[in-house]
Amino acid sequence: MTASRVPDGPVHEPIALTVNDRPCSPAVDPDVPLLYVLRNDLGLKGTRFGCGLGLCGACTVLVDGQPRTSCDLPVGAVRGSRITTVDGLAGEDGLAPLQEAFVAGGAGQCGFCLSGILMAATALLTREPDPDDATIRSALEPNICRCGVQPRVLRAIRDVVEARRAKG
Ligand code: FES
Ligand code: FES
Repeated sequence: MTASRVPDGPVHEPIALTVNDRPCSPAVDPDVPLLYVLRNDLGLKGTRFGCGLGLCGACTVLVDGQPRTSCDLPVGAVRGSRITTVDGLAGEDGLAPLQEAFVAGGAGQCGFCLSGILMAATALLTREPDPDDATIRSALEPNICRCGVQPRVLRAIRDVVEARRAKG
C-alpha cells in the first residue's frame, strides 16, 4: 500500500501592488484581507490588528493616498494600487515630521493605535496642509485609542501644522 500524498494547496495568481514605493506581486488568495498579506506575506509588521471588523482603525493604511482599514479589505480589491503603511513613513533622513512630533510630544501610551492614527493623520495633512482642530478631530474620528492619548495626538499634529506655517 502506498502512502497517500497530501494534496498541494490552491495556486493563486500574483496580485500586483506597490507597497511603500516597491512593486511586489504576492501570490495569495484575493479574498484574504490586505492586513494579513502585509504582515504575513510581505513581513511589514507595523500595521496592527485590533478588532478585525473595520471598527477601530488600528489597521489603517493608505490606498492610493486614502486611509482605509486593511483588516476588512480583500487584497484582490486593491490590485494595482499604491499602498502606504506606517513602515514606509520614515525616509532616508529619518522619521517623518509627524512621527517626530508624536515622539517629542509623548503622543502614545501602549502605542497599539498609533500606526493607524499616523496613517490617518498623514492622509489628512496631504489633502489639507493647514487643518483646524475640528478638521483634525473629524479625520481621526474612526481611529480609537483606548489609552486616551487623543489630546497629545491633537497637539502633535498641531505642532507639525504650526512648524509648516512658520516655514511658509
Ligand atoms: S483592526 Fe481593522 S479596524 Fe480594527
Ligand atoms: S496609545 Fe494605547 S490604544 Fe492608543
